[in-house]
Amino acid sequence: MTTQSNRQDLGFINSYDSSLPAGLKNKRAERLWDWAADRYAAKPVADEAAYARKLAITREYLHPEANLLELGCGTGSTALAHAHYVKHIKAVDVSSRMIEIAISKAADAGIDNIEFLHKDVDHLQLPDEYFDFVLMLNLLHLLADWRLHITMAFNTLKPGGVFVSSTMCLSDGYTFTRLPLAAGWLVGLIPLMSFFTRDDLENVLVNAGFDLEYESAPARKTAVFLVARKPW
Ligand SMILES: C[S@@+](CC[C@H](N)C(=O)[O-])C[C@H]1O[C@@H](n2cnc3c(N)ncnc32)[C@H](O)[C@@H]1O
Repeated sequence: MTTQSNRQDLGFINSYDSSLPAGLKNKRAERLWDWAADRYAAKPVADEAAYARKLAITREYLHPEANLLELGCGTGSTALAHAHYVKHIKAVDVSSRMIEIAISKAADAGIDNIEFLHKDVDHLQLPDEYFDFVLMLNLLHLLADWRLHITMAFNTLKPGGVFVSSTMCLSDGYTFTRLPLAAGWLVGLIPLMSFFTRDDLENVLVNAGFDLEYESAPARKTAVFLVARKPW
């Protein structure tokens, strides 16, 4: 079993001394997601059919020699679902409780090709051109530096590598969601979140160098799911 908990030196994915200020937003993220983790694990997927479709679309790209990186893996459900279709997965989350649950789910399922890492994506130093896939599912809108993370994903992918994201575009509608989010941030309960439109997201991906290969056309107020490729 290569699943590992946090706080170990995990080889080439290193933490570095971030030049970001003391990381208030990420402490909040860790606290919030640790608090939510058991409920998140117990909650049924909101739209089973949509989730199954995203898994199936992703799986069309996977191959048995692939190294996959999942950022913001939560309790590991998606990593576990893809584990049989790739060689190895590194799955990262800022919440130690999410990672604990993910490790225990992998052990229960007898899956031994996922390394779960308790890390903040803002503090990752990723190797250039190493991964075949980077997945960021329901994460980008939670990251203040979401543009930077798209560039980091691009850099760590091999030529021809594939980026898969599902994210809420909070500037497309969501008016009544944004207000409580902003209030929650002001009173210190939730981390800073990013509000962007679907057009912003596409532009940032294309400017980073990605070719968009697939994009769902969801109804308003559903996550935008997309697959983008780093050119060969
Ligand atoms: C909405 S959940 C999505 C989990 C999973 N990807 C899914 O689609 O079910 C967001 C996840 O991102 C993680 N997260 C939030 N900010 C993070 C950060 N800065 N670094 C790493 N993980 C983060 C949270 O702990 C949480 O598990």
